[in-house]
Amino acid sequence: MRNRIIIPLVIALLALSAGFAYVHWSKGGTGSGLYSRHWTPDPVQGYWDPDNFYQSPDSVQGVFEGKLCVQCHEGITPGIVNDWRASRHAQSEEPVYCSDCHGNDHQQLRMPTPDICAKCHEKQHGEFQDEARYGFPSHVLAMERAVDAKHFVDKPTAEVQSCIQCHSAATKCDSCHSRHRFDAAEARRPEACITCHSGPPHPDDETYFASAHGKLYLAEGNDWDWSKPLIMGNYKAPTCAYCHMENGRHQVAHKSLWKFGLREVNPHTSKNQVLRKEWIKLCMDCHQEEESRQWLTELDQERKQAWQKLYAAEAILKNLRSEKLLQPPAGERPPYPMDWLDSLWPRERIGFFEGQASVFYNVSAIERDYFEMWYFDNLGAYKSAAHGNPAGVETGHRKMAASLDRIETQANELRELSQAEKKAGITTKPSGDLWMKGTYTDYNREHN
Ligand code: HEC
Ligand code: HEC
Ligand code: HEC
Ligand code: HEC
Ligand code: HEC
Ligand code: HEC
Ligand code: HEC
Ligand code: HEC
Repeated sequence: MRNRIIIPLVIALLALSAGFAYVHWSKGGTGSGLYSRHWTPDPVQGYWDPDNFYQSPDSVQGVFEGKLCVQCHEGITPGIVNDWRASRHAQSEEPVYCSDCHGNDHQQLRMPTPDICAKCHEKQHGEFQDEARYGFPSHVLAMERAVDAKHFVDKPTAEVQSCIQCHSAATKCDSCHSRHRFDAAEARRPEACITCHSGPPHPDDETYFASAHGKLYLAEGNDWDWSKPLIMGNYKAPTCAYCHMENGRHQVAHKSLWKFGLREVNPHTSKNQVLRKEWIKLCMDCHQEEESRQWLTELDQERKQAWQKLYAAEAILKNLRSEKLLQPPAGERPPYPMDWLDSLWPRERIGFFEGQASVFYNVSAIERDYFEMWYFDNLGAYKSAAHGNPAGVETGHRKMAASLDRIETQANELRELSQAEKKAGITTKPSGDLWMKGTYTDYNREHN
């Protein structure tokens, strides 16, 4: 009797500790994150993720006082010293010297992470860290989300670099107020966000500047007084930070309902209704309550219609999968290097919950059509609706409708072809290693 409890318990404990040991081991490689043993960081990543990769140069020997750093660097990096001199750090009663952030010993310099800023900016740092409790997407989790993504390691180095650069929002504080000016005014303007918040899956740049708000900013923004904090009455039109970091709160995830738009969300849960109220309160800095509510209801409707189209496409693909009409099937495609399960149980992945975000490449044409519909057209339409860019909503939905149409046509063609083959007694043979080779696949294996 006792054994019946103890043995399974021991097995469970062993499995659990083996699991922990495995995760621990897999994080011990040259890279970082869950797949650290599968990638090698380029030296430049020391600047984007200093805690993991930065190594101080040892060419200059000595331990220097702050003033000496400035003196010598005036000749070596005059741009940096000029920016620093213009900053509040230099002008403060007790200047914040180079050494306060980088250290005094020139053979053991550090690139400052948020923890270094925390010494003097506990409030902002505390808010920033606390964002983790809202989950992802969020700035504080950005680095781990990138390096723990399978499609991160599955790609060649050149692409992987770019992930780290944008996702360094988690590992340093100079994303929005750039070094060494560290200016609050700069961070209030939309340009502070758009190096990272632009491009097809997250066109915040494009949709904001096409909105009534963005247009006003473009027309008049240069005359606004950017030294004022982002609170009611100070600005005529809102910028990114006005809406997403209201009152200077160093978090961007606390009002997030749709979470990037990757999957359908019920906007009417009680939690989401609270978030919605926070949005409406914000809009009411400048608009009527009822008008604000209606604008956000439009967003709900836009999302609903987008998901109707996406689910229709998913259903077609899932049917094709069960009829074994997706060609070549998963087992005859290059497996994802990071996916051992994929090599044991090859399966075409359809939709968010089956992990489609990893399936960027090496899929059949019809699956790729669905991927683009979901990842680019859908997310483009979402951001257009969220940011008030009507033309973008129209474009996104027109493209989704066109993709759905193409997917339907292709599915019919595949079915007809297979019926014709059956009638003629043709049986399709496995394609051997035909699909196992390919530029992207070979290139990947050699370069990541
Ligand atoms: C005598 C001149 C001199 C003094 C004093 C000096 N530096 Fe430097 N610093 C240099 C030179 C030269 C380099 C470039 C070193 C290299 O690339 O090998 C450099 C590079 C740096 C870098 C860039 C490191 C990197 O990996 O990109 C930082 C940061 C830096 N110094 C900070 C400081 C700080 C902080 C102090 C004061 C504690 C200081 N420096 C004092 C000459 C000086
Ligand atoms: C308030 C903190 C702070 C102060 C003060 C500061 N730095 Fe920096 N510095 C940073 C941050 C943050 C970075 C970017 C770190 C990264 O890329 O990981 C940086 C990067 C650098 C770099 C390498 C990046 C590049 O663009 O080449 C150099 C060199 C440098 N600082 C020199 C200086 C010098 C010289 C001073 C003094 C005049 C100084 N810093 C003062 C925070 C500071
Ligand atoms: C040794 C203390 C110290 C450290 C470390 C420090 N700061 Fe500061 N910071 C200050 C002081 C002091 C001020 C000026 C505050 C004032 O005058 O009210 C300031 C002001 C600022 C401002 C406001 C500028 C403005 O335009 O109003 C920003 C932004 C800022 N710091 C960012 C940073 C970042 C980012 C880091 C880390 C890379 C950092 N600071 C590290 C002390 C520090
Ligand atoms: C250095 C790049 C970078 C900059 C600059 C940047 N962000 Fe981000 N932001 C990211 C990344 C990366 C993510 C997604 C992180 C993840 O994977 O969870 C993100 C996520 C977000 C989210 C999504 C939160 C959610 O829950 O869906 C918002 C909102 C946001 N950022 C707003 C801003 C605003 C506003 C600014 C400018 C004031 C800004 N960001 C500047 C990189 C950046
Ligand atoms: C141009 C900057 C940029 C580049 C390059 C970039 N990202 Fe992101 N990423 C973002 C932003 C911004 C978001 C958040 C979008 C939103 O919430 O609307 C995001 C979201 C994500 C998310 C979803 C959010 C989450 O936490 O689950 C993942 C995963 C992700 N990125 C991984 C990667 C990987 C892997 C790469 C490289 C192949 C990469 N990113 C390249 C800016 C970037
Ligand atoms: C996503 C963009 C973004 C990032 C990342 C960011 N900041 Fe800021 N920061 C801002 C904005 C916007 C303001 C102006 C807020 C306002 O108007 O009240 C600001 C203002 C500040 C101020 C001045 C506050 C005041 O009241 O004068 C400090 C200090 C500061 N940030 C420190 C930090 C530190 C430390 C970090 C890293 C933990 C950081 N910031 C990261 C956008 C950012
Ligand atoms: C008028 C206010 C407003 C402005 C200005 C604004 N946004 Fe947004 N943004 C929103 C709303 C509302 C959403 C939808 C949020 C939700 O319900 O989840 C959103 C969504 C987002 C998201 C996805 C977060 C999510 O929850 O899915 C990101 C990232 C983002 N915006 C970044 C930006 C950037 C970068 C800028 C500037 C170029 C910007 N926003 C300007 C209101 C604004
Ligand atoms: C800081 C002030 C401010 C805030 C906050 C603000 N707006 Fe606006 N908004 C404006 C101004 C000014 C206009 C241009 C009004 C005009 O055309 O007369 C505008 C225009 C608009 C328009 C286009 C109006 C039309 O009739 O076509 C929409 C939609 C809109 N805002 C939605 C929102 C939403 C949703 C929020 C909250 C998430 C919001 N705004 C927050 C100032 C603001």
